[in-house]
Amino acid sequence: MKFADITGWGKCAPPAKLTNEDLSTFLDTDDEWIVSRTGMKERRISHVPVSDLAYVACAHALAAAGKSADDVDLIIFGSCTVDQVVPNAASRVQQLLGADNAACMDLNTACTSGMYGLSVATAMIRTGSVKNALVVGAEVTSVLMDWSNRDVAILFGDGAAAFFLETSDEKAGVVAESLGCYGKNRDILDVTGWGAKYANQGLTLGETQWNFDGQEIFKRAVVGMSRACEKVLEKEGMAKEEIDLVVPHQANLRIIDALAKRMGTGEEKVYINIQRYGNMSAATAPMALVEAIEEGRVAPGANLLMPAFGGGLTWSAHLLRWGSRIAPLGTSEVELPPCDKTGLQLIQDIVAAKKTAGA
Ligand code: UT7
Repeated sequence: MKFADITGWGKCAPPAKLTNEDLSTFLDTDDEWIVSRTGMKERRISHVPVSDLAYVACAHALAAAGKSADDVDLIIFGSCTVDQVVPNAASRVQQLLGADNAACMDLNTACTSGMYGLSVATAMIRTGSVKNALVVGAEVTSVLMDWSNRDVAILFGDGAAAFFLETSDEKAGVVAESLGCYGKNRDILDVTGWGAKYANQGLTLGETQWNFDGQEIFKRAVVGMSRACEKVLEKEGMAKEEIDLVVPHQANLRIIDALAKRMGTGEEKVYINIQRYGNMSAATAPMALVEAIEEGRVAPGANLLMPAFGGGLTWSAHLLRWGSRIAPLGTSEVELPPCDKTGLQLIQDIVAAKKTAGA
């Protein structure tokens, strides 16, 4: 039987930071509330389009796998904030990398897009459709945020993280997953002004309004992720004690704590980086895994459990068995252009540009 080992990994965190103090300069909020309710301290704001973040993350993932752009069979771009719908975002990454032999698709399941992307790539590799794939979760939510709404504006940040997967005879990579969606509850995370439906309604596309029931999402996130974790462990016939590290979607530290409590997992077995980035939607869980590897939290042969949830309300849990290598084979010199603005200045630019567009 074939598997799809993850042999390369890379990330791109845009340099401009937006701190809780920055947010409190234009919203009725403060550091104490944000830290105690979410665990977030700062997040990144991108000065470039989402495809550029994805390109940098993919270049690093390819180098870590010791591959060149010509080798890539498939690029999956997981995101709900793609630069353009036509042409798709994966084709932009192909163009920037020069990965001319790759098939290219975008995939949107909101915050779970990177993880659903791993499932699709794994299945295509295991069935022999492709020999390898680059999967990137990337998001620039900042341009579509309603920066006047403190309920949501504090929660999100920008970023990208990517993996290179290749066919393997060893049992490695995603070994099982549980995927689903609470479509009946899709309205509790609903953003107007973001999609073709709004083009004929006299709205400025990108001028968004977030209809967001935080408490309901919170509850369904905890229940959905814990059920998905139980299901995936049962599928693989694995006891939760055999999990070496839980690398969850990072939407709220209290959601992660509640999930760990339900599963009886000690905090030393849960990877957390929400304090640095907030919720980067599709990039979140992939970025957490990349940083867990970089920080030496993932050992060769480790069993990793990755629960996630997002708008839709999509939910997922992936069981990964890490392969034999935890050091990158190479590094890439690809990097973002310099940014001479602070996160706060970038937000002010976004708000001003929308005012001009709507005037
Ligand atoms: O990945 C998918 C998207 N992620 C999520 O949807 C996250 C799920 N939900 C959550 O993380 C939490 O529900 C939130 C962080 C969004 C909110 O936390 P909460 O503990 O559920 O707060 P709450 O909505 O019950 O609000 C408590 C109070 C309210 O004031 P009153 O009515 O008690 O006077 C809010 O108006 O906190 C107020 N509040 C704020 N105060 C300061 C809400 N947002 C803020 C804020 N700063 N940013």
